[in-house]
Amino acid sequence: MTRKILVTSALPYANGSIHLGHLVEYIQTDIWVRFQKMQGHTVHYVCADDTHGTPIMLRAEKEGITPEALIEKVHAEHSQDFADFLVQFDNYYSTNSEENRALASGIYKALKANGKIATKTIEQYFDPVKTMFLPDRFIKGECPKCHAKDQYGDNCEVCGATYSPTDLINPFSAVSGATPVRKETEHYFFKLSECADFLRDWTRSGTLQAEAANKMSEWVGEAGENKLSDWDISRDAPYFGFEIPDAPGKYFYVWLDAPIGYMASFKNLCSKAGIDFDEYWKKDSSTELYHFIGKDILYFHALFWPATLEYSGHRTPTQVFAHGFLTVNGEKMSKSRGTFITARSYLDHVQNPEYLRYYYAAKLNGSMEDIDLNLEDFVARVNSDLVGKYINIASRTAGFVAKKFDNRLTLPSHSVIDDMRAAAPAIAEAYAARDFARALREIMKLTDAANAYVADTAPWVLAKDDSKTAELHAICSNALEMFRLLTIFLKPVLPNIAQAVETFLNVSPLQWADVATGLGAQQIQAYNHMITRIEGKHIEAMVEANKESLQPEAKPAATETKPLSSADEIAHDQAEYISIDDFTKIDLRIANIVSAEHVEGAEKLLKLMLDIGEEKPRQVFAGIKSAYDPATLVGRLTVMVANLAPRKMKFGMSEGMVLAASDERGGPYILAPDSGAQAGMRVK
Ligand code: MSP
Ligand code: ZN
Repeated sequence: MTRKILVTSALPYANGSIHLGHLVEYIQTDIWVRFQKMQGHTVHYVCADDTHGTPIMLRAEKEGITPEALIEKVHAEHSQDFADFLVQFDNYYSTNSEENRALASGIYKALKANGKIATKTIEQYFDPVKTMFLPDRFIKGECPKCHAKDQYGDNCEVCGATYSPTDLINPFSAVSGATPVRKETEHYFFKLSECADFLRDWTRSGTLQAEAANKMSEWVGEAGENKLSDWDISRDAPYFGFEIPDAPGKYFYVWLDAPIGYMASFKNLCSKAGIDFDEYWKKDSSTELYHFIGKDILYFHALFWPATLEYSGHRTPTQVFAHGFLTVNGEKMSKSRGTFITARSYLDHVQNPEYLRYYYAAKLNGSMEDIDLNLEDFVARVNSDLVGKYINIASRTAGFVAKKFDNRLTLPSHSVIDDMRAAAPAIAEAYAARDFARALREIMKLTDAANAYVADTAPWVLAKDDSKTAELHAICSNALEMFRLLTIFLKPVLPNIAQAVETFLNVSPLQWADVATGLGAQQIQAYNHMITRIEGKHIEAMVEANKESLQPEAKPAATETKPLSSADEIAHDQAEYISIDDFTKIDLRIANIVSAEHVEGAEKLLKLMLDIGEEKPRQVFAGIKSAYDPATLVGRLTVMVANLAPRKMKFGMSEGMVLAASDERGGPYILAPDSGAQAGMRVK
């Protein structure tokens, strides 16, 4: 039976680049979609950029462009990244589209007609300088628990405490630096609290992985428990998003219109491809709807989204598939370690996207566990499995077929070929269940069997004996049929290589059903090498390129001040201006140099301990060794940047930066305040 399947991946935010973490999801979804398409099902795979909300609005402002210009630029970049990783969307759209506006308004009106919308006056932090309400993550302050400075409004990155922005000590706006004030405003709510019965059933009806269902059951609670609160779906102007139809100055919160973006992208595809939109979204639709997402956004997809669909007269998702997070070398991706790797940088250094597709597939098992990209293992595994085993089957036999048989095959027949056909249903079952790791284990077992066959029969020995020509022909033809079958199995993961194999073997695009057919006594093409080994040095270069720029060796921690003569130049260069808001973000403090010493192995650095009136002095590495004898620095006052994120350097943590001037005339010269200044005073 041909199934009609609509598949989505989460919509990436339009304010950042695609990185290897994102790709876990898009590659996983793409493999599954390609597998289902190979089965002959009708599958539509849609996605879009998630374009609305405060961060995107502020990012555009910072870049000095309109949000529309920002999201257009990012859309082009994302589209190219996905295409280059062979993630084949049937449509890649934008949530800032007319389709999405119409669908979001329609859904809102339907929810309202169903009595599911309420308004409530709430109090929120407001930035009096920027005249806007502040989302939690734009409010910072001192952690109420451990007193770490500069922590976000919802949790402390130092001690891990969670709290609400009102608990912060000395809160300030991360946008302007101003002290936020409490202000009343009317918000629109989706009455999620009335959806508990529906959600309890929905989350327990096989729509979620067991681990996800358990978590959601906890959120929803048992009957009568009333654990769900209403969901705040409005934000006040200024906001980049859709204005709520009957509420001027109020906008849909980005998470309301984001999943509706799945529908909008599909609607746009329908109008281009003549597909019946309603057949896929009407209540009780017989089509299937699957969302692939990361575990961090489960709440939105397993509670808000099904409830939104249910109470606006639509079908609900067939299943939501959540995956875990990517770690690199066993740790969270990190900019300082160079493991926060963008999609583009991978392509620049490693080039072949299919290596990463293969490695991720080998790790993905359909659960919500995190998956690790171990860079050494990545190189070893790809080289061994793909180059050493899979491609080897063709590269060791194709030459004889060309040289001795004019690229003609003879009818294949062998028990390993039969074993491969017999294994196809189990491999298909593993793909369907998103257990790609199991699928690849099965496929690699068969690959080993094919290699053992070639090794045992040793065609290179037979080729030297003219009486063994027929045997040689049969062995090479059998090996290439094994290679063809393995290619079918690997095609969802390695679509480009599969295409090259199709050309080489002179066959039409391989479908899963082609497992049952086979190569005949047919003409093939000359063999061209399809894949090369990855070299470790490319990986090292990639990691190096992703290390955040501030490196002690390359760049001293001292800043350079512009030579005065270039003041004119600066005046003409708009980009050189910053606003006072930008300036006040920098927390400059008078610091007393309590100690200064050489650092073993560091050419340019001195280790300073700086007292800025805190409990403990700060450790700062400064690139001023060439100009100062450490002993002369002790007891002096200087100026430091106190709110620079601490960074791990080769020699230890650096918890700030001292300022110094230099150019070709000399330096660095550290700054010194006028007499009377005291350690800890703010410089402004
Ligand atoms: N815009 C929202 C999704 C809206 S869907 C209606 C969003 N965007 S995101 O860019 O932050 O993330 C997009 C997807 O990539 C999410 O499913 C997220 O879980 C996934 N990943 C982002 N970083 C990831 C890792 N480091 N590892 C694995 N997946 C990750 O959330
Ligand atoms: Zn804390």
